[in-house]
Amino acid sequence: MRVYVLNGPNLGRLGTRQPEVYGATTYADLVELCERTGRDLGLEVVVRQTDAEHELLGWLHEAADEGAAVVLNPAAWSHYSIAVRDACAMLRGPLVEVHISNIHAREPFRHHSVVSAVATGVICGLGVDGYRLALHHLATRRP
Ligand code: DQA
Repeated sequence: MRVYVLNGPNLGRLGTRQPEVYGATTYADLVELCERTGRDLGLEVVVRQTDAEHELLGWLHEAADEGAAVVLNPAAWSHYSIAVRDACAMLRGPLVEVHISNIHAREPFRHHSVVSAVATGVICGLGVDGYRLALHHLATRRP
C-alpha cells in the first residue's frame, strides 16, 4: 500500500526551527524515520515537503486519483487554508492529520484546524513520533 507523507510550510527547517517547540529532529531525520517505519510495516512511503500551497494541492490531487492513504502535517495552512481542506475532502483513502506540537496548548489561532473535520483522525502533541503512529495505524487499520 502506498502512503503519502506530506508536509507543509517551514517543516523543511525542522531541527533548527524553534527546537523548544518542535524538537531537535531534523527534516532529514523525519524522512528517514518515515521511510524506515514504512519498510518495517510493508508500506510504500513517499515523503514530501513544500512551502508552496499549489504544490501541496497537486500532491493531494495525485493521492486522490490513486486512492492512496495520506499522512498530512498541513503546518500553518491547517489554520486557514480552505483550498487544502477542499483537496483533503477529495481523498478516497484515509487521511491522518499530524501536528508535532500540541496545537491546543498554544496560541488561540492554532487551536482550530480547518482540515480536521475532513480527516479520518488527528494526532497532535506527540512530537515526530506522531508520524510513526500514523503510519502504524494505516498499516493495521480495518477498512
Ligand atoms: C504544526 C503546528 C502549526 O500551528 C504550525 O504552523 C506548524 C507546525 C505542528 O506540527 O505542530 O508549522 O503543524
